[in-house]
This record gives sequence, C-alpha cells and structure tokens, in this order.
Amino acid sequence: MTTPDAQALTAICSATAREVGSHLLRWRRERGSVASDTKSGPTDVVTAADREAEEMVRDRLLSAYPDAGWWGEESGRAVGTGADLEWVVDPIDGTVNFLYGLPGWAVSIAAVWRGDVVGAAVMVPSVATLFSASQGMGAWSDEDGARRRLRPTECTDLTQALIATGFAYDASVRTRQGVAAGQLVGRVRDIRRAGAAAVDLCSVAAGRVDAYFETGLQPWDLAAGGLIAREAGAVVSERSDGTVVASGPALAPQLEALLTEVGALP
Ligand code: IPD
Ligand code: CA
Ligand code: CA
Repeated sequence: MTTPDAQALTAICSATAREVGSHLLRWRRERGSVASDTKSGPTDVVTAADREAEEMVRDRLLSAYPDAGWWGEESGRAVGTGADLEWVVDPIDGTVNFLYGLPGWAVSIAAVWRGDVVGAAVMVPSVATLFSASQGMGAWSDEDGARRRLRPTECTDLTQALIATGFAYDASVRTRQGVAAGQLVGRVRDIRRAGAAAVDLCSVAAGRVDAYFETGLQPWDLAAGGLIAREAGAVVSERSDGTVVASGPALAPQLEALLTEVGALP
C-alpha cells in the first residue's frame, strides 16, 4: 500500500464516528436502559450496543480499505493482508456512562500507519461534538456548525490545575488509584472523573481541563485521543503499561513529579 493521505483517513474516521454515534444515540433513546454482560470483572460491562457499533465501524472502514488491519475492543485484533494501515477502534468509550444514560461517552477511531497514529476522530454524540486530528495538521472540534482549532491551557501552577483521571476495572488497582487521587486532590484545583479516556484526552486538547492521567489504558482507549491531544499542542507521555499523562507543555514536568510523589504513577 502506498503512503495514504492522513486527511483522507481522518475524513473516513470522522464520517464513521458521526454515523455510528448518531445510531447509538437513537439506540439509547429508543431502548432506554441497556442489557449488559461483563468482561474482565463484574464492573467491566459490555452492552449489545458496543458489539453492534463495532460491527458497524468495521463494516464501514474495511469496505473502504479492505486490506487494512483491524483492532477493535470487542472483536480483537486481526492482521489485514497488507497491514501497513490498521484501524484501532473503541466503539463506545465510556460504556458505563452509556449504560446509565449519562452524557460523555464517545466513538473513538484511529488510523495507524506503520505503527504511528496519523488520523483520528472522537465523536461525543450527547454534546454533538466531533474532535479530530491528522498528523501534522493540528486538532479540531466541530460543534454546532462551528469549527475550532484546539489548544491546551497554558496553566503553569499545579495548585490551580483541574486534572482529569480514570480508574481501572480491577478492584485492587482502582483502590490504589483512589488512594493516590486522595493525595492529589489536596494539591491541585480539583479532580474530574468523567468516564471516558478518549474524551478526557480531547478535553486536554480543548483546554477544558488542564491535564489528564491514568494507568492501565488499552491501545483503543488512547489511539485517537492521544493524536488529538498531541496535535493540539499537549505533551502526551505514554508508557508500555498503559500509563498516560497529558497536559500543556508548561505543566508537564511538574505534573510528572507530583504524580510520582503521590504514588499515582506505577
Ligand atoms: C474505560 C473508560 C474509562 C477509563 C477506563 C476505560 P470503556 O473504557 O475510558 O474512563 O477510566 O480505563 O477502560 O470500558 O468504557 O471502553
Ligand atoms: Ca475505552
Ligand atoms: Ca469500550
């Protein structure tokens, strides 16, 4: 496969995320509370909507690029015949929000070319907002017909920083995360746990929080939102264990030091 046009890949990520997001919003409105099953543990839920959405995304993306590889949260990883290009997809990021009828869940789609995320879209249907980015082209939001270039905040003072985080499904891991968050909350403006990692990363990109950190993320949680945050100008550090820290550049070194001090980074 020849090197693809990142913007063309972002366009298909965006169109698919919008279409599947609208489908899910209707699904939620028409069917009310949603039947769920569990995965890694009793709090790690999957609904029929997650599976249906992943099928829809897969159908749209692999119809357009039949040779591409595929990595979706619900159906796993399959290597395409010419897998220089791989789609990395979380059909519903924030399933617990979706389950309870809370806003803030998202459809997250990334186009990965030879291991680098080059195009990304995160659609948040409950607020009708699409976040997207192409490598080297900046990050954008589309909301109520208004297109806006994204920038992280210029916060330099950790005591004034609003920090998003998330908790793992494993009870012992989230207990440790909660203890560290308890230490952190007295040292910063406040903490937010909004319930969808992709949206948290877009919130850093858009300057709606000053920073985000979490441990134990999976590739589909991070791929699209990570590119969007970086293209907005945020510093996003990733470790192989799924630890992610994202903020504006001025905050990054201090934040890393504080998170280490309070035991929030493994
Ligand atoms: C979860 C959400 C949550 C984060 C978890 C993720 P899911 O994804 O992004 O905010 O804290 O680590 O697993 O299960 O809703 O797709
Ligand atoms: Ca997720
Ligand atoms: Ca999910």
